[in-house]
Amino acid sequence: KFHHTTTPRTCSCSKVVSDEKYKDPFKLGSKDLKNLYEDIKKELLVSTTELREMCDYYFDGKGKAFRPIIVLLMARACNIHHNNSSEVQESQRSIAIIAEMIHTASLVHDDVIDDANSRRGKMTVNQIWGERKAVLADLVRGEFLQLGSKENENERFAHYLEKTFKKTASLIANSCKAVSILGCPDPKVHEIAFQYGKNVGIAFQLIDDVLDFTSCTDRLGKPTSADLKLGLATGPVLFACQQFPEMNAMIMRRFSLPGDVERAREYVLQSDGVQQTTYLAQRYCHEAMREISKLQSSPERDALVQLTEIVLTRDK
Ligand SMILES: *[C@@H]1O[C@H](CO)[C@@H](O)[C@H](O)[C@H]1NC(C)=O
Ligand SMILES: *[C@@H]1O[C@H](CO)[C@@H](O)[C@H](O)[C@H]1NC(C)=O
Repeated sequence: KFHHTTTPRTCSCSKVVSDEKYKDPFKLGSKDLKNLYEDIKKELLVSTTELREMCDYYFDGKGKAFRPIIVLLMARACNIHHNNSSEVQESQRSIAIIAEMIHTASLVHDDVIDDANSRRGKMTVNQIWGERKAVLADLVRGEFLQLGSKENENERFAHYLEKTFKKTASLIANSCKAVSILGCPDPKVHEIAFQYGKNVGIAFQLIDDVLDFTSCTDRLGKPTSADLKLGLATGPVLFACQQFPEMNAMIMRRFSLPGDVERAREYVLQSDGVQQTTYLAQRYCHEAMREISKLQSSPERDALVQLTEIVLTRDK
């Protein structure tokens, strides 16, 4: 009764078509999102003008708020599952705030490491304020796992998925688990929440990696083939390499020779690496749906189901 779209991704614009049966997660979650970014700025209690400007800049409320939406919907779904309570607890809302703060800190970190000069069509903090200060504003964690990945071919995929969990999915998974613990004492529910967040999070990153090859520079707000330029082999490359073993050498030298990035990109687009990565993301989304379906039915639970479709069909 629920089909994932499998259209190959191209540069042409395509809109997400929502099934009317399902609640629009972003509409349903928006009432809880109100003032979230104002609260984040209050939480940061920034003292210097410069830090305050950086915070205003990154927490401008124009992001997708993907993480807070998932976390708040999960909170409501678990509360309803537990005792049909219709309210989000203050402590659960704090989890949504913290998740977005950690995520944003990691974006700043990424931009510094990638030396990116645009994000969502705006200049990045490091571009405006310089690297040292951008790193100072980043409160949380390193993103260095992705810098070391030269195992043999068989281990690469496991490493890639592990990195994907740590880089993207673990924050969503643990935030989902946290609000479930606050809302419901049943350990089975905590596991459902964690598994949903983990699987959606991995799918989200896999699609991100696909978009790095298929999205136009201006629409992603970030240059394409950014990962190749950083020397990183993501899902589409690893799948393409199974078809074109000559890519191995390029992966091993991290696309460092002149022309490597362009050639690797050509190989990927000639292979079915993009499609295979998309199929893999579909499998993770299917697993997320299977998990969340174990909860008591509610509009929020159905919105979390709908969200798995949005993850797969988003084009930026
Ligand atoms: C749950 O609460 C909603 C209102 O919040 C109410 O309409 C519904 O009947 C309740 N369901 C159960 C099973 O108590
Ligand atoms: C539902 O459970 C939560 C968490 O245990 C509790 O704070 C809340 O008061 C309960 N609500 C109702 C309507 O029983």
